[in-house]
Amino acid sequence: MKGGNAVSGVMQAAISQQIQAELESAYLYLALSAHMELKNLKGFAHWLRLQWEEELAHALKLQDYLLQRDAPITYGALRAPVCEVDTPLEVFELVLRHEQKVTRLINELYALAVAESDYASQTMLQWFVTEQLEEEENARTVVEDLRWSGGAGPSLLLLDRELAARVPEPSQ
Ligand code: FEO
Repeated sequence: MKGGNAVSGVMQAAISQQIQAELESAYLYLALSAHMELKNLKGFAHWLRLQWEEELAHALKLQDYLLQRDAPITYGALRAPVCEVDTPLEVFELVLRHEQKVTRLINELYALAVAESDYASQTMLQWFVTEQLEEEENARTVVEDLRWSGGAGPSLLLLDRELAARVPEPSQ
């Protein structure tokens, strides 16, 4: 039986859509990781592969939240990633643009939770609001490093080694 914590239909649909967006983010990072691996930039590939795992964890976090509120999940078809990029700089400019788009989606979701007076969703989404600060900052740092260094030669290999040292985030 639905109790006082039942999620509204509009919120359920919007969170389901965000699950799809997170899975599509994962799909994009998977493709970008393969692209870097084929260029033999294994540190970049490793960083992007960890990002794929992070996005899967984001999707799961949202799914678990809906299940906790006894709400079903509506699944849609995943769109194939569009990554018409070549150089590491182009790849990370795409990553930054992508994360800026995700930030907009999270903010819209938060605004909806406010409009719906859905306090539990607001609390849950605060984690994502903070996470997006980190997501954008991480991408921007790599973009700036690539711009400063020229994105080629020894400095590119140095950055590749640096990115190879990324470790998975502890699950939250
Ligand atoms: Fe799930 Fe990269 O934001």
